[in-house]
Amino acid sequence: MSEKIIDGVAIGKEIREEIKARVSALKERGCTPGLAVILVGENQASHTYVRNKQKSSTEVGMKSELVNLPASVTEDELLSHINKLNNDDSIHGILVQLPLPDHIDENRIILAIDPKKDVDGFHPINVGKMMIGQRSFLSCTPYGIIKLLERTNTPIKGKHAVIVGRSNIVGKPMGQLLLQRDATVTYCHSQTVDLPSYTKQADILIVAIGRTKFIGEEHVKDGAVVIDVGMNRDENGKLCGDVDFEAVKNKTTAITPVPGGVGPMTITMLLKNTLQSAEEAVAESDK
Ligand code: GUN
Repeated sequence: MSEKIIDGVAIGKEIREEIKARVSALKERGCTPGLAVILVGENQASHTYVRNKQKSSTEVGMKSELVNLPASVTEDELLSHINKLNNDDSIHGILVQLPLPDHIDENRIILAIDPKKDVDGFHPINVGKMMIGQRSFLSCTPYGIIKLLERTNTPIKGKHAVIVGRSNIVGKPMGQLLLQRDATVTYCHSQTVDLPSYTKQADILIVAIGRTKFIGEEHVKDGAVVIDVGMNRDENGKLCGDVDFEAVKNKTTAITPVPGGVGPMTITMLLKNTLQSAEEAVAESDK
């Protein structure tokens, strides 16, 4: 792969090897990090994501537990499963795969997860701590993007980072993490007037909008670093991002492909958060 293509597969693998070594060290101290995933209903994409999360967690030596519930499960039943996992010392990370069926209030479910086991980093306690720079679980996709930038020695300090997309899971936390690393941050979104006038100023352009090949050559400054969070299908059913990779790549200093860029980092950071939780539980029990 050319040097300017940011290889998320290779960087993810490197980090997972480091996680594996730390999992082994914890196991020698009698603690096997445990990740529980709650999956509700029959959404095929969710089933695939969850299978991958389970496979990756066992590959690094973690215990993986799946709670598979029917779409008809009530909110109270789901809450009681979460409560049980909150009180289970062999479980260090709890993840409720989203989306949930319409009759379940996602916010109430996220609030029920013990913040110490919220390895998705979705609980308001973790979001709030992240905002004020305290140690917390970071949302996996933006955390993974920071690792991609760090491991490719991409300068962040003093750079202008433009983020297209303002979701709670990616866009908003992404801006905060870059701000903490001394970037100047601009947020753009669906209501931004004259989007290219902002994106063309970006030293680092991060796109998370879920629109196939939306970002073209006219949006990108020469020499920019472009990070594509999109995971879409084109008219031929082929996986592609929010950025028109072929149109943009020659203008960039570095760019993530889809697939093989940001995607592999998201699961990797979920494992890193689960490891962090287990290490903190062991440190707490040593006190
Ligand atoms: N659904 C799609 N992405 C995610 C994720 O990162 N975490 C959870 N819990 N659900 C998702």
